[in-house]
Amino acid sequence: MEEWLNSKGEIILRELGITNRQHILDFGCGTGVYSIIASRVVGNTGKIYALDYDENVLKELTDKIKNQNINNIEIIKSSKEISVPLKSNSIDVVLMYDVFHLLDKDDRVKLLNEIYRILKKNYGILSYFATHIGSYGIQLKKVQDLIQKIGFELFKQFKRPMFHWSWIEEGTVLNYRKIEKK
Ligand SMILES: C[S@@+](CC[C@H](N)C(=O)[O-])C[C@H]1O[C@@H](n2cnc3c(N)ncnc32)[C@H](O)[C@@H]1O
Repeated sequence: MEEWLNSKGEIILRELGITNRQHILDFGCGTGVYSIIASRVVGNTGKIYALDYDENVLKELTDKIKNQNINNIEIIKSSKEISVPLKSNSIDVVLMYDVFHLLDKDDRVKLLNEIYRILKKNYGILSYFATHIGSYGIQLKKVQDLIQKIGFELFKQFKRPMFHWSWIEEGTVLNYRKIEKK
């Protein structure tokens, strides 16, 4: 775990498409494991928006940010309702990691539409770490169909050791591109 948090995780996020200077939304960031690693990759000229509705996890993340002198993570405390207070066409990558299964059907559609709205035209990436397949009503084929219906196309699929809850597991990450609607 230590090795993943200190070095391997950064290599993996780069492989998943995160680069210097990007603006990233970590939706349902929890205590910010991915936000913090991504903040190292995007550097001082990039930015991470770490969004969650749970005050307790955000407090933990706030403490980590202070202790580690991180200055490129902005915390967004949301309500449980899906709304993302970011400008349209402004975000390079949205991390939707281990959170989609927690939403009900309507919220899944609302979230995907919000992600579509905020992602940059042509380049914006929705990166989905597909956890809990086969439970929480998550059937990968159906989720993929829904994501495509909203206006995304799958362009890369990865199998990588991923942080999940409090362990590292071999995970599936699907990267989608926003397609321009006519
Ligand atoms: C299992 S944790 C995953 C945390 C992090 N993404 C990771 O992979 O380590 C799911 C997080 O999503 C948050 N979450 C669930 N539904 C949400 C919603 N509607 N709006 C914002 N955050 C939400 C929860 O509060 C929780 O912190």
